[in-house]
Amino acid sequence: MNIIETIKKRKSCRTFTPAALKPDDKKDLESYIVENNTGLENEVINFRIIGKTDADKQMKLDYGMIKGQHTYILGTSKSSIDSRVNYGYLMEKVVLKATEINISTCWVGYFDKTYFNEALIENGSEIPSIIIIGYSEDKQSYLDKYVRFLVNASKRQSWEKMFFNYKLKTPLSPEYVKKYSDSLEMVRLAPSSGNTQPWRVFFDDVNNEFHFFKKPISKKYEARGLHDIDMGIALSHFELTSLYNNLSGRWIKLTNENIASIDDLQYIRTWKCE
Ligand SMILES: Cc1cc2nc3c(=O)[nH]c(=O)nc-3n(C[C@H](O)[C@H](O)[C@H](O)COP(=O)(O)O)c2cc1C
Repeated sequence: MNIIETIKKRKSCRTFTPAALKPDDKKDLESYIVENNTGLENEVINFRIIGKTDADKQMKLDYGMIKGQHTYILGTSKSSIDSRVNYGYLMEKVVLKATEINISTCWVGYFDKTYFNEALIENGSEIPSIIIIGYSEDKQSYLDKYVRFLVNASKRQSWEKMFFNYKLKTPLSPEYVKKYSDSLEMVRLAPSSGNTQPWRVFFDDVNNEFHFFKKPISKKYEARGLHDIDMGIALSHFELTSLYNNLSGRWIKLTNENIASIDDLQYIRTWKCE
């Protein structure tokens, strides 16, 4: 399965079977996590797979209604925008690896932080989000369908609402960005907290750069740092798709003087085409 197929296949699962991860699947994921622990600006985040047994109390999930969950992946980030973006960027790669090997996932930003006493949280660090992993029940629960309905989970905004020309601020079309159209389309299909899709991308056709900005859509999610995670997810989709299409580049962070301030948007990162 190539990355475009994997991104299209992924969707949040909220109805898990009781089966624990098969040892081979667990090994695959664990090696992937170890080999891919270094993200933007070389920040390292070590994720862990944590399985809970029936004897453990069930986790309270105060948003969304997830059933049958028993296995989680989590790590810690610093309490900063950049570090949370990096957490989203690295963890989404794990989500896509899991999807490729038929493990279902759900990002969860609202969870009981005291549940994971295994995770040592140092001062100035946090667990900004977790993912639940496992195998999906054949039949979605009624609540699963209801949550999908509430957040319009299968819908995404159109290109003209999210992707723009940097100079003119006019909407970008797939025809205009040609070879990068897949990369942006895969950003569009990314998961986000409450399906808010806070990414706004501006293409500078003079310098051949894609500038990624965050539009804080929900005050509640922004306060919990979830929109930063959303941005990291978008970066990983863009990068993986570009590399798959043999379009090389790298992430840079421009200084304030070198990036335009645009309305209520917050600058996050730039993909420099090479
Ligand atoms: C950072 C983040 C946090 C999320 N938190 C929750 C959550 O707490 N509970 C939940 O049921 N879904 C959560 N989701 C899943 C989103 O609701 C889901 O990705 C979105 O509705 C799009 O649906 P899809 O993933 O099936 O494409 C979260 C997603 C992200 C990216």
